[in-house]
Amino acid sequence: MRIGSVLENQQNEKRIAVTPETAKKYISLGFDLILSKNYGSHLGIYDEEYLDLGVKFSSDEKEILNGSDIILQVAMLPEDKCSLFRESQTFIGALNPYSNKDYLENLAKKKINIFSLELLPRITRAQSMDILSSQANLAGYKAVIESFANFQKAIPMMMTAAGTVPAAKVLVIGAGVAGLQAIATAKRMGAIVFATDVRTASKEQVESLGGKFLSVEGSENLETEGGYAKEASEDFKTRQEDLLSETLKKIDIVICTALIPGKKAPLIIKDNMISNLQPGSVIYDLAAIQGGNTALTEVDNIIEKNGVKIMGESNILNKLPISASTLYAKNIFNFVDNLFDKENKKININLDDEIINKTIIK
Ligand code: NAI
Repeated sequence: MRIGSVLENQQNEKRIAVTPETAKKYISLGFDLILSKNYGSHLGIYDEEYLDLGVKFSSDEKEILNGSDIILQVAMLPEDKCSLFRESQTFIGALNPYSNKDYLENLAKKKINIFSLELLPRITRAQSMDILSSQANLAGYKAVIESFANFQKAIPMMMTAAGTVPAAKVLVIGAGVAGLQAIATAKRMGAIVFATDVRTASKEQVESLGGKFLSVEGSENLETEGGYAKEASEDFKTRQEDLLSETLKKIDIVICTALIPGKKAPLIIKDNMISNLQPGSVIYDLAAIQGGNTALTEVDNIIEKNGVKIMGESNILNKLPISASTLYAKNIFNFVDNLFDKENKKININLDDEIINKTIIK
């Protein structure tokens, strides 16, 4: 059995799907590995490191994409590369299954086994494969670092002979994986942290990290059985707007992380609410690529309105691609390990396994 992976589109994606650490694990399971030349050089991981483990390299993408049994990638491949796939191959990655639904379904009809890891169920057994968690955790951390770097005051309270610098006040909107890491990071750096979410279960988690939870009064718990957020009603949105409009007056930095799987990100900070922030405040919108949680978010641009900076990037993980690849590659290895029938040395698509059933494109 051969595993292959080609270079990602370097302009949008610096992460890699196979690290030397996971290459070693695949080889010890009995796989052969083939990668594009200079696969990890942009991260300071040179071909020699893989070659020493027994990995092969090729500059011919057809050889890799057509000649491997399993293709591992970070992002979806463009059509010209997918056209090199052949029947009964397995293709695994973060394939953006909601936007690429039709295309992936057509590809699956050609008897290619496609697994998109964003669809993993949030169950204990899948935690080691959960790319959404591993990547959101890093994104939450980095959003805080990026916003703090653009904030022109100190973050922790400093009492000096020349006077006191007050602690910065941070508001985190959406307390899922990214939001909770943002709270923890901002707290560690000395900020006073507030957070809000539509899921009532998140209150306890926010408080356990030392954050102050802001509840939308009189609202019901908007949580699905799978633990995700439901879309809020108009009544909820009005109450949330009132709460946040008032809160923003005392906030220095806002980290937006609110998402609803498969839908456009909810618009939470409207244009008129931005002027409630003091000049010099910063908003980092992690939901930018899904449409943004603010009215003014622009992907990969820093917008300034009344002295407030609004930031959002297409892929913040490109700012810590080594850490992100280390975790992503391990997630994907754990997924392959579960898919691989070690006795018969073949991929076993057991649809009774919830992990396999939920992630396969049908
Ligand atoms: P996500 O990335 O889909 O959304 C981020 C956060 O935004 C969520 O907490 C959501 O409730 C919140 N949100 C959505 N609309 C909002 C609005 N209008 N206002 C305020 N907040 C809003 O969520 P993520 O991080 O993927 O977590 C989703 C759930 O999955 C959580 O319950 C989490 O605890 C759970 N989870 C379970 C895991 C496991 O058991 N293996 C692993 C990771 C997460």
